[in-house]
Amino acid sequence: MHRTFLIDTDTGSDDAVALIMALRTPDIRVAAITVVAGNIPLAQATSNALYTAELCNSNVPIFAGASHPLKRALCCADWFHGEDGLGDHGYKPKTRAVEKKHAVDAIIETIRANSGLTIVTLGPLTNVALALQRDGNLAASVGRCVIMGGNPCCEGNITPAAEFNIYVDPEAARIVFHSGMNIEMVGWHLCRGAAALNQQEIDGLLASKKPLAEFAVVSNSIAAESYHTQTGEYGICLPDPTAMGIAIDPKLCLDGTSHYVEIETQSELNRGLTMVDKLNVAHDRRNIEIWGPTIQAQPNKIHVCWTMNVPAWKKFLFSLLTE
Ligand code: BDR
Ligand code: CA
Repeated sequence: MHRTFLIDTDTGSDDAVALIMALRTPDIRVAAITVVAGNIPLAQATSNALYTAELCNSNVPIFAGASHPLKRALCCADWFHGEDGLGDHGYKPKTRAVEKKHAVDAIIETIRANSGLTIVTLGPLTNVALALQRDGNLAASVGRCVIMGGNPCCEGNITPAAEFNIYVDPEAARIVFHSGMNIEMVGWHLCRGAAALNQQEIDGLLASKKPLAEFAVVSNSIAAESYHTQTGEYGICLPDPTAMGIAIDPKLCLDGTSHYVEIETQSELNRGLTMVDKLNVAHDRRNIEIWGPTIQAQPNKIHVCWTMNVPAWKKFLFSLLTE
C-alpha cells in the first residue's frame, strides 16, 4: 500500500537529498513536486528539482510556483548553498522539463485527487499559503503537513530570532499555521550536532561510489563550509532530510508535543520567529486576548518535534543513498 506525498521545495543542496529520500522509498508515491523561490530564485530551484528527479530516474511531475514571497522581497541563501544552490558544480537537467501548470494549481488539484495525503514543505510557505487562500476547503483534505521550518525555543539560523524558511515569507507561514491543517513542525535545531554528517560518514558515502551518495556529499560542499562558518560545527547539516525522514517514518521523532505556535510578522527584529506556547499558557486570562485567534485557528495545535533518533535517521538515509 503506497502513501502519497506532495513535496514543496526551494531546491537547495539539502532539499535535493530530501527529494532523493522520498523518491527512493519504495512505499512512497510522490504525486507532485512543487517549487518555490527561496534558497535561490525560482528558475534555478526548478532546474535543481528536475536534475535531482533525473538522477533518481523519476518522472514525477515538477511544477514551478511563486517567484517571490507574498509581501516581501525575496531573500536567498546562495551564500549558504552556492550560487546555483547545489554547490556550484554545474549540475543541469538533460532530459526533463517543467510542467506548464502553475504549482499552486497543481497543489490544489493534487490534494483534491488524493484526500488524506501528506504534504512535506522544504522551503518558504508561499505556494502552500496561496493554495490555501484560493481553496478554503483544502486544509481538511490534508492528512499530515510536515514542515521543515522554525526554531522552537532556540536560536535561528538566518537571524538570532528566525529560521530561514519562515523568515523569508512569514506572512505565508502565518496563513499555513492558521489553516487548521494537521501540522508537524521540524525545526532547524534537529539537524545540528550529532545529526550533522561527520567526516567518517562523508568518507563512507564517497567510498560507496554510488552516484546518489556522491551527489549528496558533493552538492553540499559549500553548505558544509557555510555551516562551519555559521556555527563553528563541522560536517554536513541536512535540515530538509531530517523533516523528510520524520515524514516517512514518524517514529524517528523521539520527543514531540503539541502546542499553539504563532509566527511573528510585525516586528523587524523578530521577523519570522516561531513562538511556541511550550508551557501551555496561551489559555490563561492574561494571554487570551492576544492568543485567542491562534487558539481558534489551531484546533489540533502544532506538533513540535524536539528530538530525533539520529542513529536510526542516518542509517535510513545512508541506505537510501547507497543501496
Ligand atoms: C532551511 O533553509 C534552507 O536553506 C534549507 O534548504 C532548509 O530548508 C533550513 O533553515
Ligand atoms: Ca529548503
